[in-house]
Amino acid sequence: GTAAVASTATRSIITKLQNSDRDVVVFYGSQTGTAEDYASRLAKEGHSRFGLKTMVADIEEYDLEDLDTFPEDKVAIFVMATYGEGEPTDNAATFYEFITGDDPQFSEMEDPEKPLKNLKYVAFGLGNNTYEHYNAVIVRLNEALLKLGANRIGEVGMGDDGTGTMEEDFLSWKEEMWSEFSKHVGVQEREAVYEPALKVEEKDGLTTDDANVFLGEFNKAHLQGTHSAPFLPHNPYIAPITSSRELFKSDSRNCLHVEIDLEDSNLKFTTGDHVAIWPQNSDKEVDRFLSVLGLTEKRDTVISVTAIDPTAKVPFPNPTTYDAVVRYHLEICGVVSRQFLASLAPYAPSDEAKAEITKLGNEKDYFSEVVSSRYFNIAQVLQRIAGGATWSSVPFPLIIESINHIQPRYYSISSSSYVEKTKPHITVVVESIPTSETADPLKGVASNYLLDLKYKQEGINNPSPSAVSYATDGPRGKYVGNKIPVHIRHSNFKLPSNPATPIIMVGPGTGVAPFRGFVHERAAQAGAGVPVGTSLLFFGSRNRTEDFLYSEEWEALGEKLGDKFKLVTAFSREGPEKVYVQHRLVENADLVNKLLQDGAYFYVCGDASRMAKDVSASLAKIISQQRDIAEEQGEEIVKSMRAQNLYQEDVWS
Ligand code: 2AM
Repeated sequence: GTAAVASTATRSIITKLQNSDRDVVVFYGSQTGTAEDYASRLAKEGHSRFGLKTMVADIEEYDLEDLDTFPEDKVAIFVMATYGEGEPTDNAATFYEFITGDDPQFSEMEDPEKPLKNLKYVAFGLGNNTYEHYNAVIVRLNEALLKLGANRIGEVGMGDDGTGTMEEDFLSWKEEMWSEFSKHVGVQEREAVYEPALKVEEKDGLTTDDANVFLGEFNKAHLQGTHSAPFLPHNPYIAPITSSRELFKSDSRNCLHVEIDLEDSNLKFTTGDHVAIWPQNSDKEVDRFLSVLGLTEKRDTVISVTAIDPTAKVPFPNPTTYDAVVRYHLEICGVVSRQFLASLAPYAPSDEAKAEITKLGNEKDYFSEVVSSRYFNIAQVLQRIAGGATWSSVPFPLIIESINHIQPRYYSISSSSYVEKTKPHITVVVESIPTSETADPLKGVASNYLLDLKYKQEGINNPSPSAVSYATDGPRGKYVGNKIPVHIRHSNFKLPSNPATPIIMVGPGTGVAPFRGFVHERAAQAGAGVPVGTSLLFFGSRNRTEDFLYSEEWEALGEKLGDKFKLVTAFSREGPEKVYVQHRLVENADLVNKLLQDGAYFYVCGDASRMAKDVSASLAKIISQQRDIAEEQGEEIVKSMRAQNLYQEDVWS
C-alpha cells in the first residue's frame, strides 16, 4: 500500500538503516552493473560470514547530507566505479560532486572541522588502468572522506578492468579488509551459511499462455504491448532492423552493418553516440544452463520470485518462468566468479565434485588454468566438474542472487545524424573465439544474436556448424520478427562544432565505426556548401580483400571531399611484418603535426588495452620529434589535449 511505499522511500540512509535494522550499508556507483554486483557480494558475505545485518543501496537513492549523523556503531561501504576520463558513474554524480566539493554542508555540523568523525567506512574502486585517471573516483572520494574526519577500515581497494584482474584484485583486497573489519567492529567470523534474500515459488495454477506471465518483457507496458516513449534503459524501444548486411568477405568471420529504425520512438541521437542493445542468451547456452541445474523438464513452469529480505530487489518482473529468467535476465555466458564457485560446494552432486569445486574456489592459479584460460562459462564449468551429473540441489534464488543481470551492449553509431536523423547504423564484428579443440568457441552474446536475426530474415537454415540460434520467434521468443530492444547512450565523442576544424581519426577494425559517421557528415556538409576542414583517417585491418570495412564507400566519399579527405590504411597481415595504424601515424608525422598546429581534433576508437595506448604514446613521440622538444613535453601536450577535449577516445576492452 501507500504507507509501505512512503516508508521505504526515505532518502535518509540513517532512517533507512534504523527502520530496517541494518548495521552496514554498501553503496554502489555503477554504470554497467559490475560495481553493483560487487556491492551485493560484499553485503552477502558480511552477512553469511560475520552475521552482519547488511543492505545494498544505489547511492542515487539517498541524500547524503546527513552523513555527519551516521551512527558510530554502523559502517558504510563504498563500491564506486570510475568511468571514462576519471568521471563518476551517472548514479553517483550528485553525491560525488557534493562530497568532493570545496565545502560540503552537512545537516547538523556539530564539528565543522571534522563533520564525519563518527563515520566508519570501507572503500573499493573499479577502474581501468588503460585510462589516464585510474580509479580517480574512489581515490578522490577517499581523500574527501579522510579530510572530513571519517575513519577508513582497511586499505582502499582498486580493481583493474584494463589488465583483466578485477576479480582477483577484489578477492585479495576483501580478505584483508574483512580481517580489519572484524577487529574494528568487533565481530567474529562464523561458519558461512547461505540465507536466501529471495524466494522462488512455482505457480501450479499458471501457464505460459496466461497473459500475466512475463516471458522476457521488460515491464508491464511491454507485457501488454502498450509501451511508449520515453524509451530508457528500463523501458527499451523494440526497434525494427531495416537492413543487415555482411561487410567481410570471409568464410570464417562475420561483421555486420546493421541499420535500425527509430522513426516511431522519439529517440534522438547525434553522430558519435551509442546504440545500446539488450541481448538474450542463445538457445544452446540456455539449454546447457537449465540442463546442468536439472531444470530442463521444468523450464516452462511459471514461477514467482519475491524478496524475503526487505532490502533485496527482485531484478526482473514476475511471474515468469525458469527459461525466461535464464534466457533474458542472467549473464550466463559471463566471466565465472571464483567466489561463486566456492559458494556452490555444499550443493555438489558428489564428493568428488565437491572436492573439485572447493579446490577451484580456493586456488587462484588452478582456477585460472582450468576456467579462465579456457573461457569456460558457468554451465561448462559445472558440467565438467560433475562429469555430466546435474546440480539439482543448487537453490535457484542463489543463482539469481549470484549471477549478474544481463546488461546492454553498446555500439558506436557508424552513421551521421546530420545525414539521417532516425536510422542509426552500427558496425558489429561477430565474436567467435576458439577456446580449445574440444570446447565450443566463445560466442559474443549480442553480435551472434544479430547474426542469427539476419540468417532468419534471409531464410538461411543451417548457416555454419558454429552458428547459434536464438528464440526470436515461437513461444519463448518475445520480439517476433526482425526487431531488437534498444536505447540510446549519449557520448562526449563529438565532431568539433566548427566543420572547418581539421580532424585526425584513428580507428582500426570496427573502431572505424564512428568515423564513418564523421566522414559522411563532412561530405554532406561539403555538398551543402559548408566549408569543411581536412579529415585524415587511419584505418587498419588484416588485409584489403577480407576485412577492409566500407572500402567502396571511402572512394565515393573521397570524390565528394576532394583533398579534404585522406585515408591511410594499415593492413597487418599482408606482408611479413605487422603494420598497425600507429606505424602509419608515425610515417605521416609531418602532416599529423601540421594539422594539430592548425587546431585539429584527434580521435581514437577501438581496442583500449593495446591500440589506444600505443597510439597515444606514438602521438606524444611525433609531437616531440616534430617540434624538437623533450619526450616528456610531448606527453604533456597530449595530456593537455585530453584535458581540453581535443583528444577524444571511444574505446573498449
Ligand atoms: P592483427 O590482428 O593482425 O595483429 C583490426 O583488428 C586491426 O588492428 C588488425 O589489423 C589487427 O592486427 C590490428 N591490431 C592488433 N593489435 C594492435 C595494436 N596493438 N595496435 C594497433 N593495431 C592492432
